[in-house]
Amino acid sequence: MSEERPEAVMLSNNRRWNISSITLLVAVISVALYQLSSGFFEKNFEKSSELKSKEIKSIKEPSKLKYILYDGLNRSDILITVDRVLSRLGLEKIEVSNPSNLPNDWNLLWTFYYHESLNEFINWSDIKHHQKVNHFSGNYMLVSKSFLTTHGNFDFIPKGFLNSEDVQKYATAHPNKRFVIKLKSSRGVKLIEPSEMNFSQKSSDYFAQEFIDDPLLWNGYKFDFNIFVVITSVNPLRVYYYKKNVFLRFCLKPYSTANISDIDAYVIGTDHIACQSFPYVKAYVEAGYTYKDAFEGFIKEIGGDIDQVWKQVENVIRSTVLIKEKYMINGINRLKASKNSFFELYRFDMILDKNLKLYLMEVNMSPCTVPVTDRMHNKLMYEHLMFNLFTLIGIGTAYEKESFQFPNYDVESMVAYHDAITVKPKTCLSSSCNANCTSDACKFCWNCLSEDYRIEMIQALQEQMNRGYFTRVFPVQKEDIKEDLWKDITHLNKFYIEWFQEMCKKNKQFC
Ligand SMILES: *[C@@H]1O[C@H](CO)[C@@H](O)[C@H](O)[C@H]1NC(C)=O
Ligand SMILES: *[C@@H]1O[C@H](CO)[C@@H](O)[C@H](O)[C@H]1NC(C)=O
Ligand SMILES: *[C@@H]1O[C@H](CO)[C@@H](O)[C@H](O)[C@H]1NC(C)=O
Ligand SMILES: *[C@@H]1O[C@H](CO)[C@@H](O)[C@H](O)[C@H]1NC(C)=O
Ligand SMILES: *[C@@H]1O[C@H](CO)[C@@H](O)[C@H](O)[C@H]1NC(C)=O
Repeated sequence: MSEERPEAVMLSNNRRWNISSITLLVAVISVALYQLSSGFFEKNFEKSSELKSKEIKSIKEPSKLKYILYDGLNRSDILITVDRVLSRLGLEKIEVSNPSNLPNDWNLLWTFYYHESLNEFINWSDIKHHQKVNHFSGNYMLVSKSFLTTHGNFDFIPKGFLNSEDVQKYATAHPNKRFVIKLKSSRGVKLIEPSEMNFSQKSSDYFAQEFIDDPLLWNGYKFDFNIFVVITSVNPLRVYYYKKNVFLRFCLKPYSTANISDIDAYVIGTDHIACQSFPYVKAYVEAGYTYKDAFEGFIKEIGGDIDQVWKQVENVIRSTVLIKEKYMINGINRLKASKNSFFELYRFDMILDKNLKLYLMEVNMSPCTVPVTDRMHNKLMYEHLMFNLFTLIGIGTAYEKESFQFPNYDVESMVAYHDAITVKPKTCLSSSCNANCTSDACKFCWNCLSEDYRIEMIQALQEQMNRGYFTRVFPVQKEDIKEDLWKDITHLNKFYIEWFQEMCKKNKQFC
Protein backbone atom coordinates (compact mmCIF):
# COMPACT_ATOMS: atom_id res chain seq x y z
CA MET A 1 0.00 0.00 0.00
CA SER A 2 1.17 3.52 -0.59
CA GLU A 3 1.36 6.55 1.60
CA GLU A 4 -0.54 8.63 -0.85
CA ARG A 5 -3.66 9.22 1.11
CA PRO A 6 -2.31 10.40 4.46
CA GLU A 7 0.18 12.68 2.73
CA ALA A 8 -2.53 14.15 0.59
CA VAL A 9 -4.60 14.83 3.66
CA MET A 10 -1.70 16.44 5.45
CA LEU A 11 -0.88 18.55 2.45
CA SER A 12 -4.34 19.98 2.18
CA ASN A 13 -4.41 20.64 5.91
CA ASN A 14 -1.05 22.34 5.71
CA ARG A 15 -2.23 24.48 2.89
CA ARG A 16 -5.32 25.48 4.77
CA TRP A 17 -3.24 26.27 7.79
CA ASN A 18 -0.91 28.42 5.70
CA ILE A 19 -3.79 30.42 4.36
CA SER A 20 -5.14 30.83 7.87
CA SER A 21 -1.71 31.96 9.09
CA ILE A 22 -1.53 34.57 6.37
CA THR A 23 -5.01 35.79 7.21
CA LEU A 24 -4.02 36.02 10.81
CA LEU A 25 -0.87 37.96 9.96
CA VAL A 26 -2.81 40.37 7.76
CA ALA A 27 -5.38 40.81 10.46
CA VAL A 28 -2.77 41.54 13.10
CA ILE A 29 -1.05 44.09 10.84
CA SER A 30 -4.37 45.72 9.98
CA VAL A 31 -5.27 46.05 13.63
CA ALA A 32 -1.83 47.51 14.38
CA LEU A 33 -2.10 49.98 11.50
CA TYR A 34 -5.61 50.85 12.55
CA GLN A 35 -4.42 51.74 16.01
CA LEU A 36 -1.62 53.90 14.59
CA SER A 37 -3.73 55.57 12.01
CA SER A 38 -5.22 59.04 12.13
CA GLY A 39 -8.73 59.88 11.04
CA PHE A 40 -7.52 59.77 7.43
CA PHE A 41 -7.15 55.99 7.52
CA GLU A 42 -9.97 55.37 9.91
CA LYS A 43 -12.78 55.07 7.42
CA ASN A 44 -10.87 52.84 5.06
CA PHE A 45 -9.70 50.46 7.68
CA GLU A 46 -12.86 50.28 9.70
CA LYS A 47 -14.52 47.78 7.45
CA SER A 48 -11.56 45.53 6.86
CA SER A 49 -10.39 45.39 10.45
CA GLU A 50 -13.87 44.48 11.56
CA LEU A 51 -13.85 41.71 9.02
CA LYS A 52 -10.42 40.50 10.05
CA SER A 53 -11.13 40.45 13.74
CA LYS A 54 -14.15 38.33 12.96
CA GLU A 55 -11.82 35.94 11.17
CA ILE A 56 -9.44 35.86 14.10
CA LYS A 57 -12.35 35.01 16.28
CA SER A 58 -13.37 32.19 14.00
CA ILE A 59 -9.86 30.73 14.15
CA LYS A 60 -9.75 30.85 17.92
CA GLU A 61 -13.26 29.66 18.62
CA PRO A 62 -14.33 26.80 16.40
CA SER A 63 -17.97 25.93 16.71
CA LYS A 64 -18.61 23.63 19.62
CA LEU A 65 -19.16 19.91 19.27
CA LYS A 66 -22.79 19.07 19.83
CA TYR A 67 -24.49 16.27 21.75
CA ILE A 68 -28.01 14.99 22.03
CA LEU A 69 -29.36 13.17 25.07
CA TYR A 70 -32.39 11.03 24.45
CA ASP A 71 -33.85 9.23 27.46
CA GLY A 72 -37.04 8.07 25.76
CA LEU A 73 -38.78 8.20 29.15
CA ASN A 74 -39.33 11.92 29.55
CA ARG A 75 -37.04 11.72 32.56
CA SER A 76 -34.16 14.07 31.92
CA ASP A 77 -32.67 13.39 35.37
CA ILE A 78 -31.71 9.89 34.31
CA LEU A 79 -28.81 11.24 32.20
CA ILE A 80 -27.80 14.01 34.56
CA THR A 81 -24.20 12.79 35.01
CA VAL A 82 -23.65 12.33 31.27
CA ASP A 83 -25.03 15.82 30.71
CA ARG A 84 -22.92 17.43 33.41
CA VAL A 85 -19.65 15.85 32.27
CA LEU A 86 -20.21 16.59 28.57
CA SER A 87 -20.96 20.22 29.23
CA ARG A 88 -17.83 20.51 31.40
CA LEU A 89 -15.87 19.06 28.48
CA GLY A 90 -17.09 22.00 26.42
CA LEU A 91 -19.70 20.28 24.27
CA GLU A 92 -22.92 22.01 23.46
CA LYS A 93 -26.25 20.33 24.11
CA ILE A 94 -28.95 20.24 21.47
CA GLU A 95 -32.33 20.14 23.20
CA VAL A 96 -34.68 17.73 21.48
CA SER A 97 -38.25 17.71 22.67
CA ASN A 98 -39.52 15.34 20.04
CA PRO A 99 -37.44 12.71 18.22
CA SER A 100 -39.17 13.54 14.93
CA ASN A 101 -37.30 16.87 15.05
CA LEU A 102 -33.84 15.39 15.43
CA PRO A 103 -31.30 17.63 13.73
CA ASN A 104 -28.49 15.86 11.87
CA ASP A 105 -25.52 18.01 12.84
CA TRP A 106 -24.89 16.24 16.13
CA ASN A 107 -21.52 14.73 17.02
CA LEU A 108 -22.61 12.51 19.91
CA LEU A 109 -25.96 10.84 20.43
CA TRP A 110 -26.48 9.33 23.88
CA THR A 111 -29.68 7.35 24.26
CA PHE A 112 -31.00 5.60 27.33
CA TYR A 113 -32.99 3.01 25.39
CA TYR A 114 -31.61 1.09 22.44
CA HIS A 115 -30.61 3.60 19.79
CA GLU A 116 -32.67 1.55 17.37
CA SER A 117 -35.78 2.86 19.08
CA LEU A 118 -34.95 5.89 16.90
CA ASN A 119 -34.99 3.89 13.65
CA GLU A 120 -38.01 5.76 12.49
CA PHE A 121 -36.17 9.07 12.81
CA ILE A 122 -32.55 8.26 11.99
CA ASN A 123 -31.15 6.61 8.88
CA TRP A 124 -28.18 4.84 10.42
CA SER A 125 -26.48 4.17 7.11
CA ASP A 126 -26.43 7.91 6.63
CA ILE A 127 -24.65 8.94 9.81
CA LYS A 128 -21.09 10.05 9.32
CA HIS A 129 -18.30 7.90 10.64
CA HIS A 130 -17.23 10.64 13.03
CA GLN A 131 -20.65 10.76 14.69
CA LYS A 132 -20.71 8.71 17.86
CA VAL A 133 -23.55 6.65 19.32
CA ASN A 134 -23.49 5.00 22.77
CA HIS A 135 -24.91 1.55 21.91
CA PHE A 136 -24.03 -1.36 19.68
CA SER A 137 -26.73 -2.99 17.64
CA GLY A 138 -26.83 -6.68 18.46
CA ASN A 139 -25.91 -6.05 22.11
CA TYR A 140 -29.13 -7.83 23.19
CA MET A 141 -27.23 -11.13 23.13
CA LEU A 142 -25.09 -9.67 25.90
CA VAL A 143 -27.60 -7.63 27.91
CA SER A 144 -30.65 -9.86 27.74
CA LYS A 145 -30.66 -12.05 30.84
CA SER A 146 -32.21 -15.04 29.12
CA PHE A 147 -29.83 -14.89 26.13
CA LEU A 148 -26.80 -14.34 28.36
CA THR A 149 -27.53 -17.39 30.51
CA THR A 150 -28.76 -19.82 27.86
CA HIS A 151 -26.23 -19.21 25.07
CA GLY A 152 -22.65 -20.25 25.54
CA ASN A 153 -21.40 -22.68 28.10
CA PHE A 154 -19.35 -20.89 30.72
CA ASP A 155 -18.82 -22.26 34.19
CA PHE A 156 -19.02 -18.69 35.53
CA ILE A 157 -22.56 -18.10 34.29
CA PRO A 158 -25.18 -20.03 36.27
CA LYS A 159 -26.99 -22.18 33.72
CA GLY A 160 -30.25 -20.81 32.34
CA PHE A 161 -33.30 -22.64 30.95
CA LEU A 162 -35.98 -21.42 28.58
CA ASN A 163 -38.60 -24.07 29.35
CA SER A 164 -39.61 -26.18 32.32
CA GLU A 165 -38.91 -29.54 30.67
CA ASP A 166 -35.22 -28.65 30.32
CA VAL A 167 -34.86 -27.49 33.89
CA GLN A 168 -36.67 -30.57 35.21
CA LYS A 169 -34.40 -32.85 33.21
CA TYR A 170 -31.30 -31.04 34.44
CA ALA A 171 -32.57 -31.09 38.04
CA THR A 172 -33.05 -34.86 37.93
CA ALA A 173 -29.44 -35.26 36.82
CA HIS A 174 -28.21 -32.76 39.47
CA PRO A 175 -30.32 -33.44 42.58
CA ASN A 176 -28.27 -31.11 44.82
CA LYS A 177 -28.93 -28.00 42.78
CA ARG A 178 -31.64 -25.44 43.37
CA PHE A 179 -33.22 -23.11 40.83
CA VAL A 180 -34.73 -19.67 40.66
CA ILE A 181 -37.41 -18.49 38.32
CA LYS A 182 -36.81 -15.06 36.83
CA LEU A 183 -38.65 -12.54 34.74
CA LYS A 184 -36.92 -11.97 31.40
CA SER A 185 -37.77 -8.30 31.37
CA SER A 186 -37.23 -7.07 34.89
CA ARG A 187 -36.14 -8.13 38.29
CA GLY A 188 -38.62 -10.70 39.65
CA VAL A 189 -36.66 -13.64 41.07
CA LYS A 190 -37.73 -16.49 43.32
CA LEU A 191 -36.52 -19.91 44.41
CA ILE A 192 -38.87 -22.63 43.18
CA GLU A 193 -39.00 -26.42 42.96
CA PRO A 194 -38.38 -27.56 39.38
CA SER A 195 -41.50 -29.73 39.57
CA GLU A 196 -43.58 -26.62 40.18
CA MET A 197 -42.24 -24.85 37.10
CA ASN A 198 -44.48 -24.54 34.10
CA PHE A 199 -43.24 -22.24 31.36
CA SER A 200 -42.17 -22.49 27.77
CA GLN A 201 -39.84 -20.44 25.61
CA LYS A 202 -42.47 -19.03 23.30
CA SER A 203 -45.29 -18.05 25.58
CA SER A 204 -43.51 -17.10 28.72
CA ASP A 205 -42.04 -14.02 30.34
CA TYR A 206 -40.05 -16.34 32.57
CA PHE A 207 -36.86 -18.33 32.43
CA ALA A 208 -35.14 -20.44 35.09
CA GLN A 209 -31.61 -20.34 36.36
CA GLU A 210 -29.38 -22.37 38.61
CA PHE A 211 -29.14 -20.85 42.07
CA ILE A 212 -25.72 -20.20 43.64
CA ASP A 213 -26.30 -21.92 46.94
CA ASP A 214 -23.20 -20.86 48.83
CA PRO A 215 -22.74 -17.14 48.22
CA LEU A 216 -19.96 -15.33 50.02
CA LEU A 217 -21.58 -13.36 52.83
CA TRP A 218 -20.36 -9.98 54.05
CA ASN A 219 -21.25 -9.57 57.73
CA GLY A 220 -24.01 -12.10 57.08
CA TYR A 221 -25.43 -10.39 53.99
CA LYS A 222 -25.45 -11.61 50.40
CA PHE A 223 -24.01 -8.94 48.09
CA ASP A 224 -23.00 -8.38 44.50
CA PHE A 225 -20.38 -6.13 43.00
CA ASN A 226 -20.79 -4.21 39.77
CA ILE A 227 -18.05 -3.49 37.27
CA PHE A 228 -18.28 -0.85 34.55
CA VAL A 229 -17.11 -2.09 31.15
CA VAL A 230 -16.59 -0.21 27.90
CA ILE A 231 -16.42 -1.60 24.39
CA THR A 232 -14.82 0.97 22.09
CA SER A 233 -14.72 -1.13 18.92
CA VAL A 234 -15.74 -4.49 17.49
CA ASN A 235 -13.74 -6.39 14.89
CA PRO A 236 -11.16 -5.38 15.94
CA LEU A 237 -12.51 -5.74 19.44
CA ARG A 238 -11.31 -3.41 22.18
CA VAL A 239 -12.69 -3.79 25.71
CA TYR A 240 -11.81 -1.98 28.95
CA TYR A 241 -13.11 -1.98 32.51
CA TYR A 242 -13.09 0.76 35.11
CA LYS A 243 -10.73 -0.28 37.86
CA LYS A 244 -10.91 2.74 40.12
CA ASN A 245 -14.13 1.72 41.83
CA VAL A 246 -16.94 -0.81 42.00
CA PHE A 247 -20.52 -0.47 43.06
CA LEU A 248 -21.77 -2.82 45.80
CA ARG A 249 -25.32 -3.91 46.60
CA PHE A 250 -26.46 -5.85 49.65
CA CYS A 251 -29.66 -7.76 50.36
CA LEU A 252 -32.06 -5.97 52.67
CA LYS A 253 -31.94 -8.79 55.23
CA PRO A 254 -29.25 -11.21 56.44
CA TYR A 255 -28.90 -14.20 54.12
CA SER A 256 -31.35 -17.06 54.51
CA THR A 257 -33.35 -19.29 52.20
CA ALA A 258 -35.39 -20.85 55.01
CA ASN A 259 -38.46 -18.93 53.88
CA ILE A 260 -38.41 -18.77 50.11
CA SER A 261 -41.18 -16.15 50.07
CA ASP A 262 -38.80 -13.82 51.84
CA ILE A 263 -36.80 -12.81 48.80
CA ASP A 264 -35.21 -9.84 50.60
CA ALA A 265 -33.01 -12.37 52.38
CA TYR A 266 -31.48 -13.93 49.25
CA VAL A 267 -32.24 -11.80 46.15
CA ILE A 268 -30.33 -8.63 45.34
CA GLY A 269 -33.15 -6.79 43.69
CA THR A 270 -34.36 -3.31 42.97
CA ASP A 271 -34.71 -3.01 46.74
CA HIS A 272 -31.30 -3.40 48.26
CA ILE A 273 -28.90 -1.74 50.62
CA ALA A 274 -26.61 0.37 48.47
CA CYS A 275 -22.96 0.36 49.44
CA GLN A 276 -22.92 3.84 50.90
CA SER A 277 -25.40 2.71 53.58
CA PHE A 278 -23.67 -0.52 54.58
CA PRO A 279 -21.72 0.26 57.79
CA TYR A 280 -18.52 -1.57 56.79
CA VAL A 281 -18.34 0.34 53.49
CA LYS A 282 -19.53 3.60 54.97
CA ALA A 283 -16.57 3.62 57.36
CA TYR A 284 -14.15 3.32 54.43
CA VAL A 285 -15.81 6.08 52.46
CA GLU A 286 -15.97 8.46 55.40
CA ALA A 287 -12.25 7.98 55.89
CA GLY A 288 -11.59 8.99 52.27
CA TYR A 289 -11.49 5.58 50.57
CA THR A 290 -13.56 4.03 47.80
CA TYR A 291 -16.17 1.29 47.69
CA LYS A 292 -13.53 -0.76 45.95
CA ASP A 293 -11.08 -0.22 48.82
CA ALA A 294 -13.75 -1.55 51.19
CA PHE A 295 -14.35 -4.55 48.93
CA GLU A 296 -10.65 -5.37 48.69
CA GLY A 297 -10.27 -4.80 52.44
CA PHE A 298 -13.03 -7.30 53.13
CA ILE A 299 -11.65 -9.95 50.77
CA LYS A 300 -8.18 -9.64 52.33
CA GLU A 301 -9.66 -9.74 55.83
CA ILE A 302 -11.22 -13.14 55.16
CA GLY A 303 -7.89 -14.39 53.79
CA GLY A 304 -8.86 -14.18 50.12
CA ASP A 305 -6.50 -13.49 47.23
CA ILE A 306 -7.71 -10.22 45.72
CA ASP A 307 -5.49 -10.57 42.64
CA GLN A 308 -7.20 -13.86 41.91
CA VAL A 309 -10.58 -12.10 42.11
CA TRP A 310 -9.51 -9.42 39.60
CA LYS A 311 -8.08 -12.10 37.34
CA GLN A 312 -11.48 -13.78 37.29
CA VAL A 313 -13.19 -10.44 36.66
CA GLU A 314 -11.00 -9.88 33.61
CA ASN A 315 -11.47 -13.38 32.26
CA VAL A 316 -15.25 -13.19 32.71
CA ILE A 317 -15.51 -9.85 30.88
CA ARG A 318 -13.17 -10.90 28.09
CA SER A 319 -14.74 -14.32 27.47
CA THR A 320 -18.32 -13.06 27.61
CA VAL A 321 -17.77 -10.17 25.25
CA LEU A 322 -15.73 -12.30 22.86
CA ILE A 323 -18.50 -14.82 22.22
CA LYS A 324 -21.08 -12.04 21.79
CA GLU A 325 -18.96 -9.94 19.45
CA LYS A 326 -20.29 -11.60 16.29
CA TYR A 327 -23.83 -10.42 17.06
CA MET A 328 -22.61 -6.85 17.29
CA ILE A 329 -20.69 -7.13 14.04
CA ASN A 330 -23.87 -8.42 12.41
CA GLY A 331 -25.89 -5.65 14.04
CA ILE A 332 -23.67 -2.97 12.53
CA ASN A 333 -23.76 -4.67 9.12
CA ARG A 334 -27.53 -4.90 9.29
CA LEU A 335 -27.77 -1.14 9.87
CA LYS A 336 -25.21 -0.58 7.09
CA ALA A 337 -23.61 1.86 9.48
CA SER A 338 -19.98 2.83 9.94
CA LYS A 339 -18.49 0.68 12.69
CA ASN A 340 -16.39 3.56 13.96
CA SER A 341 -19.51 5.29 15.19
CA PHE A 342 -20.32 3.02 18.11
CA PHE A 343 -19.16 2.48 21.67
CA GLU A 344 -20.97 1.28 24.77
CA LEU A 345 -20.81 1.42 28.55
CA TYR A 346 -22.13 -1.63 30.42
CA ARG A 347 -22.38 -2.74 34.01
CA PHE A 348 -21.44 -6.35 34.77
CA ASP A 349 -23.06 -7.63 38.00
CA MET A 350 -21.03 -10.35 39.70
CA ILE A 351 -21.17 -12.41 42.87
CA LEU A 352 -18.64 -14.60 44.65
CA ASP A 353 -19.27 -17.92 46.34
CA LYS A 354 -17.64 -19.07 49.58
CA ASN A 355 -14.60 -20.34 47.64
CA LEU A 356 -14.24 -16.93 45.96
CA LYS A 357 -15.31 -18.35 42.64
CA LEU A 358 -16.83 -15.56 40.62
CA TYR A 359 -20.17 -15.69 38.80
CA LEU A 360 -21.57 -13.27 36.26
CA MET A 361 -25.26 -12.68 36.99
CA GLU A 362 -26.25 -9.96 34.57
CA VAL A 363 -24.98 -7.40 32.06
CA ASN A 364 -26.80 -4.07 31.95
CA MET A 365 -26.87 -1.55 29.15
CA SER A 366 -27.46 2.06 30.22
CA PRO A 367 -26.32 1.43 33.79
CA CYS A 368 -27.60 3.86 36.35
CA THR A 369 -25.24 6.79 36.87
CA VAL A 370 -27.64 8.99 38.75
CA PRO A 371 -25.99 9.90 42.04
CA VAL A 372 -27.79 9.58 45.32
CA THR A 373 -27.78 13.32 45.76
CA ASP A 374 -26.63 13.57 49.35
CA ARG A 375 -23.80 11.09 48.93
CA MET A 376 -20.70 12.83 47.71
CA HIS A 377 -18.68 9.69 46.96
CA ASN A 378 -21.44 8.31 44.79
CA LYS A 379 -21.57 11.47 42.71
CA LEU A 380 -17.79 11.61 42.40
CA MET A 381 -17.63 8.00 41.27
CA TYR A 382 -20.14 8.45 38.46
CA GLU A 383 -18.63 11.71 37.26
CA HIS A 384 -15.14 10.26 37.38
CA LEU A 385 -16.34 7.20 35.46
CA MET A 386 -17.96 9.35 32.76
CA PHE A 387 -14.99 11.68 32.51
CA ASN A 388 -12.67 8.70 32.05
CA LEU A 389 -15.03 7.15 29.51
CA PHE A 390 -15.18 10.29 27.38
CA THR A 391 -11.43 10.69 27.58
CA LEU A 392 -10.88 7.07 26.55
CA ILE A 393 -13.00 7.35 23.43
CA GLY A 394 -11.57 10.71 22.42
CA ILE A 395 -14.55 12.94 23.18
CA GLY A 396 -12.80 14.66 26.06
CA THR A 397 -9.35 15.84 24.99
CA ALA A 398 -6.78 18.35 26.02
CA TYR A 399 -7.00 20.04 22.63
CA GLU A 400 -9.94 21.44 20.73
CA LYS A 401 -11.47 19.29 18.05
CA GLU A 402 -13.57 20.41 15.15
CA SER A 403 -15.20 17.00 14.95
CA PHE A 404 -14.67 13.43 16.09
CA GLN A 405 -13.47 12.62 12.60
CA PHE A 406 -10.57 10.26 12.94
CA PRO A 407 -7.84 10.58 12.11
CA ASN A 408 -7.43 14.25 11.49
CA TYR A 409 -3.76 13.83 10.56
CA ASP A 410 -2.78 17.44 11.02
CA VAL A 411 -3.88 17.40 14.67
CA GLU A 412 -3.51 13.74 15.47
CA SER A 413 0.10 13.53 14.38
CA MET A 414 0.85 15.98 17.18
CA VAL A 415 -0.44 13.29 19.56
CA ALA A 416 0.90 10.20 17.85
CA TYR A 417 2.81 10.10 14.62
CA HIS A 418 2.99 6.89 12.64
CA ASP A 419 6.34 5.96 14.16
CA ALA A 420 4.31 5.25 17.29
CA ILE A 421 2.54 2.26 15.74
CA THR A 422 5.33 0.65 13.71
CA VAL A 423 6.89 -2.54 15.06
CA LYS A 424 9.51 -5.11 13.96
CA PRO A 425 11.98 -2.66 12.34
CA LYS A 426 14.48 -5.38 11.45
CA THR A 427 11.93 -7.39 9.50
CA CYS A 428 10.41 -4.36 7.84
CA LEU A 429 13.76 -2.99 6.68
CA SER A 430 14.74 -6.33 5.17
CA SER A 431 14.82 -6.49 1.41
CA SER A 432 12.00 -9.05 1.20
CA CYS A 433 9.48 -6.72 2.89
CA ASN A 434 10.70 -3.85 0.77
CA ALA A 435 10.07 -5.74 -2.44
CA ASN A 436 6.47 -6.71 -1.78
CA CYS A 437 4.10 -7.55 1.06
CA THR A 438 3.31 -11.16 0.16
CA SER A 439 5.12 -12.65 3.15
CA ASP A 440 3.10 -12.87 6.39
CA ALA A 441 6.13 -11.55 8.28
CA CYS A 442 5.72 -8.17 6.54
CA LYS A 443 2.13 -7.56 7.59
CA PHE A 444 2.92 -4.93 10.23
CA CYS A 445 5.28 -2.92 8.00
CA TRP A 446 4.10 0.60 7.34
CA ASN A 447 4.23 0.14 3.58
CA CYS A 448 2.14 -3.03 3.88
CA LEU A 449 -0.60 -1.55 6.09
CA SER A 450 -3.76 -0.31 4.45
CA GLU A 451 -5.31 2.96 5.57
CA ASP A 452 -8.02 1.13 7.57
CA TYR A 453 -5.46 -0.80 9.56
CA ARG A 454 -3.39 2.28 10.24
CA ILE A 455 -6.45 4.14 11.52
CA GLU A 456 -7.44 1.31 13.86
CA MET A 457 -3.90 1.17 15.20
CA ILE A 458 -3.69 4.89 15.85
CA GLN A 459 -7.07 4.74 17.52
CA ALA A 460 -5.98 1.79 19.68
CA LEU A 461 -2.81 3.66 20.55
CA GLN A 462 -4.72 6.79 21.57
CA GLU A 463 -7.06 4.75 23.74
CA GLN A 464 -4.03 3.17 25.38
CA MET A 465 -2.59 6.63 26.07
CA ASN A 466 -5.91 8.06 27.28
CA ARG A 467 -7.24 5.10 29.21
CA GLY A 468 -6.96 6.78 32.61
CA TYR A 469 -8.51 4.46 35.18
CA PHE A 470 -9.61 1.93 32.56
CA THR A 471 -7.78 -1.36 32.19
CA ARG A 472 -7.72 -3.14 28.84
CA VAL A 473 -9.06 -6.71 28.82
CA PHE A 474 -8.99 -7.16 25.04
CA PRO A 475 -6.78 -7.41 23.10
CA VAL A 476 -4.32 -9.13 25.43
CA GLN A 477 -1.53 -11.65 25.06
CA LYS A 478 -2.62 -14.86 23.41
CA GLU A 479 -1.83 -16.80 26.61
CA ASP A 480 -4.51 -14.85 28.48
CA ILE A 481 -7.25 -16.07 26.16
CA LYS A 482 -8.89 -19.39 26.94
CA GLU A 483 -8.03 -21.99 24.32
CA ASP A 484 -11.58 -22.91 23.40
CA LEU A 485 -12.28 -19.25 22.58
CA TRP A 486 -9.24 -18.84 20.40
CA LYS A 487 -10.61 -20.85 17.47
CA ASP A 488 -13.59 -18.49 17.04
CA ILE A 489 -11.63 -15.27 17.20
CA THR A 490 -11.81 -13.35 13.95
CA HIS A 491 -8.78 -13.06 11.71
CA LEU A 492 -8.75 -9.31 12.28
CA ASN A 493 -8.73 -9.74 16.07
CA LYS A 494 -5.82 -12.16 15.83
CA PHE A 495 -3.94 -9.61 13.75
CA TYR A 496 -4.39 -6.94 16.44
CA ILE A 497 -3.51 -9.34 19.25
CA GLU A 498 -0.20 -9.98 17.50
CA TRP A 499 0.33 -6.27 16.94
CA PHE A 500 -0.34 -5.52 20.63
CA GLN A 501 2.22 -8.18 21.52
CA GLU A 502 4.80 -6.50 19.29
CA MET A 503 3.90 -3.09 20.74
CA CYS A 504 4.38 -4.57 24.19
CA LYS A 505 7.92 -5.63 23.29
CA LYS A 506 8.62 -2.08 22.19
CA ASN A 507 6.89 -0.39 25.14
CA LYS A 508 6.07 -2.18 28.38
CA GLN A 509 3.11 0.15 28.94
CA PHE A 510 1.30 -1.78 26.26
CA CYS A 511 1.48 -5.13 28.02
C1 LIG B 1 -42.80 15.30 29.86
O1 LIG B 1 -42.83 15.81 31.17
C2 LIG B 1 -43.25 17.14 31.30
C3 LIG B 1 -43.16 17.60 32.75
O2 LIG B 1 -42.43 16.70 33.52
C4 LIG B 1 -44.68 17.25 30.78
O3 LIG B 1 -45.12 18.60 30.85
C5 LIG B 1 -44.75 16.76 29.32
O4 LIG B 1 -46.08 16.76 28.87
C6 LIG B 1 -44.18 15.35 29.23
N1 LIG B 1 -44.09 14.95 27.81
C7 LIG B 1 -44.50 13.76 27.37
C8 LIG B 1 -44.33 13.53 25.90
O5 LIG B 1 -44.94 12.90 28.11
C1 LIG C 1 -30.53 5.99 4.03
O1 LIG C 1 -29.32 6.56 3.58
C2 LIG C 1 -28.72 5.83 2.51
C3 LIG C 1 -27.36 6.45 2.24
O2 LIG C 1 -27.42 7.84 2.12
C4 LIG C 1 -29.64 5.83 1.30
O3 LIG C 1 -29.07 5.10 0.26
C5 LIG C 1 -31.00 5.19 1.71
O4 LIG C 1 -31.90 5.28 0.66
C6 LIG C 1 -31.56 5.89 2.95
N1 LIG C 1 -32.72 5.15 3.41
C7 LIG C 1 -33.87 5.72 3.72
C8 LIG C 1 -34.95 4.83 4.20
O5 LIG C 1 -34.05 6.93 3.63
C1 LIG D 1 -48.93 -25.76 32.45
O1 LIG D 1 -49.71 -24.64 32.02
C2 LIG D 1 -50.58 -24.96 30.94
C3 LIG D 1 -51.27 -23.69 30.45
O2 LIG D 1 -51.15 -22.67 31.37
C4 LIG D 1 -51.61 -26.02 31.42
O3 LIG D 1 -52.47 -26.36 30.34
C5 LIG D 1 -50.85 -27.26 31.87
O4 LIG D 1 -51.73 -28.20 32.42
C6 LIG D 1 -49.80 -26.89 32.95
N1 LIG D 1 -48.99 -28.08 33.25
C7 LIG D 1 -48.65 -28.42 34.50
C8 LIG D 1 -47.77 -29.62 34.64
O5 LIG D 1 -49.01 -27.77 35.48
C1 LIG E 1 -42.04 -15.70 54.83
O1 LIG E 1 -41.78 -14.45 54.21
C2 LIG E 1 -42.96 -13.73 53.85
C3 LIG E 1 -42.52 -12.51 53.06
O2 LIG E 1 -41.60 -11.75 53.80
C4 LIG E 1 -43.75 -13.42 55.10
O3 LIG E 1 -44.93 -12.74 54.75
C5 LIG E 1 -44.08 -14.69 55.85
O4 LIG E 1 -44.72 -14.38 57.08
C6 LIG E 1 -42.84 -15.50 56.11
N1 LIG E 1 -43.18 -16.80 56.68
C7 LIG E 1 -42.65 -17.28 57.80
C8 LIG E 1 -43.09 -18.64 58.21
O5 LIG E 1 -41.88 -16.64 58.45
C1 LIG F 1 7.99 -10.98 -3.48
O1 LIG F 1 9.35 -10.89 -3.07
C2 LIG F 1 9.97 -12.14 -2.87
C3 LIG F 1 11.35 -11.91 -2.29
O2 LIG F 1 11.94 -10.77 -2.79
C4 LIG F 1 10.01 -12.90 -4.21
O3 LIG F 1 10.62 -14.17 -4.05
C5 LIG F 1 8.61 -13.06 -4.74
O4 LIG F 1 8.62 -13.65 -6.02
C6 LIG F 1 7.90 -11.72 -4.78
N1 LIG F 1 6.47 -11.96 -5.09
C7 LIG F 1 5.79 -11.18 -5.92
C8 LIG F 1 4.36 -11.55 -6.13
O5 LIG F 1 6.31 -10.24 -6.49
